[in-house]
Amino acid sequence: MEILVSRLSCSSALLLLLLFQILVVGSSSVDAGQPPYGCNESAKNYPFCETKLGISERAKDLVSRLTLDEKVGQLVNTAPAIPRLGIPAYEWWSEALHGVAFISSVPQGIHFNGTVTAATSFPQVILSAASFDARLWYRIGQAVGREARAIYNAGQATGMTFWAPNINIYRDPRWGRGQETPGEDPTLTGHYATSYVRGIQGDTFQGTAVHGTQILQASACCKHFTAYDLDHWKGIDRFVFDAKVTKQDLADTYQPPFHSCIQEGKASGIMCAYNRVNGVPNCADHDLLTNTARGQWNFNGYITSDCDAVSIIHENQSYAKTPEDAAAAVLKAGMDVNCGNYLKNYSKSAVQKKRLLESDIDRALQNLFSVRMRLGLFNGNPAKQPYGDIGPDEACSEEHQDLALEAALHGIVLLKNSHRLLPLAKSKTLSSSLAVIGPNANASKTLLGNYAGPPCKIVTPLQGLQNYVKKKKIMYHPGCDSVQCSSAKIDQAVDVAKGADQVVLIMGLDQTQEREDHDREELLLPGKQQKLITSIARAAKKPIVLVLLCGGPVDISFAKYDNNIGSILWAGYPGEAGGLAIGQIIFGDHNPGNKAYHYSNKLLRNIRGRLPVTWYPKDFIRVPMTDMRMRPDPSTGYPGRTYRFYKGPKVFEFGYGLSYSNYSYEIVSSSSKKIYLKALRDEMSNTVRQRLVSEIDKELCEKKRFIVTVRVVNQGEMAGKHPVLLFVRVPMVGNGRPMKRLVGFQTVNLNAGENAEIEYEVSPCEHFSMANEQGMIVIEEGLHLLVVDNIEYPVTVVV
Ligand SMILES: *[C@@H]1O[C@H](CO)[C@@H](O)[C@H](O)[C@H]1NC(C)=O
Ligand SMILES: *[C@@H]1O[C@H](CO)[C@@H](O)[C@H](O)[C@H]1NC(C)=O
Ligand SMILES: *[C@@H]1O[C@H](CO)[C@@H](O)[C@H](O)[C@H]1NC(C)=O
Ligand SMILES: *[C@@H]1O[C@H](CO)[C@@H](O)[C@H](O)[C@H]1NC(C)=O
Ligand SMILES: *[C@@H]1O[C@H](CO)[C@@H](O)[C@H](O)[C@H]1NC(C)=O
Ligand SMILES: *[C@@H]1O[C@H](CO)[C@@H](O)[C@H](O)[C@H]1NC(C)=O
Repeated sequence: MEILVSRLSCSSALLLLLLFQILVVGSSSVDAGQPPYGCNESAKNYPFCETKLGISERAKDLVSRLTLDEKVGQLVNTAPAIPRLGIPAYEWWSEALHGVAFISSVPQGIHFNGTVTAATSFPQVILSAASFDARLWYRIGQAVGREARAIYNAGQATGMTFWAPNINIYRDPRWGRGQETPGEDPTLTGHYATSYVRGIQGDTFQGTAVHGTQILQASACCKHFTAYDLDHWKGIDRFVFDAKVTKQDLADTYQPPFHSCIQEGKASGIMCAYNRVNGVPNCADHDLLTNTARGQWNFNGYITSDCDAVSIIHENQSYAKTPEDAAAAVLKAGMDVNCGNYLKNYSKSAVQKKRLLESDIDRALQNLFSVRMRLGLFNGNPAKQPYGDIGPDEACSEEHQDLALEAALHGIVLLKNSHRLLPLAKSKTLSSSLAVIGPNANASKTLLGNYAGPPCKIVTPLQGLQNYVKKKKIMYHPGCDSVQCSSAKIDQAVDVAKGADQVVLIMGLDQTQEREDHDREELLLPGKQQKLITSIARAAKKPIVLVLLCGGPVDISFAKYDNNIGSILWAGYPGEAGGLAIGQIIFGDHNPGNKAYHYSNKLLRNIRGRLPVTWYPKDFIRVPMTDMRMRPDPSTGYPGRTYRFYKGPKVFEFGYGLSYSNYSYEIVSSSSKKIYLKALRDEMSNTVRQRLVSEIDKELCEKKRFIVTVRVVNQGEMAGKHPVLLFVRVPMVGNGRPMKRLVGFQTVNLNAGENAEIEYEVSPCEHFSMANEQGMIVIEEGLHLLVVDNIEYPVTVVV
């Protein structure tokens, strides 16, 4: 999100209104550290304040009391107060991607200049995703939602609508915002969305309301709807990009995360994306917003535009002839609020020019006020409401900070570990020396990634490693001037490395390389980083440890095959406790005696993360980033994308991740070996038969769910928790079939030598299906294989 045009162009009348607000409403709500709310003592007699009535009735009453000018004012993210009705100002735009964030363009939304001065900064999403642990994602969401309420209760928020999670599929490794997402897989992303949204909004992990009331702890928003995953690549930007998406890819790649986020997560917000899909701007797409989201998926909430996504429909995409046409298009399509000013400027004239009916505006306002009411913001004093007891000390609580550490520990992925170099022996290293080298070794902001707020505290990797080594025995050198590494002090750094018993290099990327509005053009480490790494590795006494901080994948084939590089860790952007986690993982110790963190569980000493994206080789950049097709096209050499379709060489696979232990797997049973989804069989034909899932009786499908049991044995010497991934594949390839697809993941916790059985529930209609070329979900007759690691188990489907 980003503001394209200056938004401070209020007319003098608006300025007067603003002044009025500051004098009349502002004084009681903002200054005193009181949260702003509607229906206080002097306004409580309106029917819309009557909590016994249904939300929709209340919202309808409120909207019916507004003048056209007041209505139009409410259609933008910074909604003014309506003092005559006791309605406070509201800021729709707040962010909470991996912790409550601060946005400088809307400092009135959430600010940190009060009792609450910081919020827990969890790992950037791509790293938390690598834990493959839905309960962890849920707990992070819960913590973020509680901190949001704490900030609101302290009078430091004028909005409780957070524009997270970002659940677009990480389709191309160059995407600058891939770091914000849970990765490339629709199932993983759908589970992430559901868990995070339930956590933030105050539901249980299973999706039922905690308070028994309808009140949302905070409101989450599934973004960016849809097929948005290009920011700015070789002069092509997201504002004008027209994503050409096949019906097939839309149905089984781009849409499923949104479907889950809405139907299972029950998100109360959606953001429509800047880009067009097959010519139609997302925010003006009635079929997408109204027919699909609200109609088919029963979406109940508000739809916001991305910031200034309405103006671009006229000004940059030339899709709407006039500003009024753009305003009319989005409101008629089903969008409710404009991040930006366009609707404030042009909705009234659109009504006057008969492009738009006032009832189209009322429809949007109905959704907007319903969400504010569901947040409990029109129930009188919030201190007496559910969540009213969440105090300022819950922001940055010990528990939340421990969770930030736990999330980093569980996400970090071990990519290489020759001769079991890691974990380093703690006792030995204490008496020996350690060199910590690299531009990311002591970079604090880098750990947070983008969309971060002020963290509770930050521990850099250098500081995390200092916990294990005597002060005089640790040496630090940045190696390069910056992550860009256009100039490197290679000789100096090599000298430092030579003088140490062990070297840890902390390299990678940061927001200068990958960020919003900036995609990469290369997949290699920037500048002289590679040269620095190989020179140091060659000179060091022992094989070195290489730690990469980056969101997107990099082609580090050179390091994978360099015998002087013993171990490689990918640590994403690991959040405020990231340095501590890196130290603990390198030394196989989760108890460094740092009093600030209480997180300790010896069963968790092991490393467990797995890659949520494919790491492609550098040559992948010959594929245009603009090509949205997931499926390969052998006739033109187009390789397809993600582990589901891309067959080319890989640096590391989706789901790859080593451990300090060894595990073996066995699929011991499945309650079904043959599944009949149709009572009467037709004649068999030679061609593969497919049946539309919509034609299969829903109840029959439900009945045919079955349990797959997998036995896992920890054959290593170290206890550990780790995620076990269950895939399905069909032996037949081609014809748009994925090579395999993830259907479930479970975490197992095992001591050395122990074994356990874990169960997965498989739904044939959901997990054995795919989209056909018309975008219909079909299930194919014949053999389907359940896959764990390299173990396969056959199940036959008869349709
Ligand atoms: C109620 O809120 C209105 C404006 O929103 C304010 O003017 C008024 O003073 C408040 N009344 C009480 C009793 O707090
Ligand atoms: C504190 O307030 C000042 C002035 O409004 C603003 O510039 C700054 O960004 C705020 N800081 C935080 C952390 O909210
Ligand atoms: C969109 O068009 C406006 C008006 O022509 C221009 O000022 C702005 O830079 C354009 N924005 C983008 C992202 O192209
Ligand atoms: C809103 O309208 C005013 C006056 O017509 C104009 O100056 C301003 O640029 C407009 N803002 C937007 C976002 O269109
Ligand atoms: C590491 O960074 C911190 C601030 O983030 C700074 O206080 C400290 O001096 C740095 N350490 C070294 C060795 O440069
Ligand atoms: C895992 O097993 C392999 C092969 O049996 C062995 O070479 C390797 O050292 C083992 N690794 C661990 C961490 O136990």
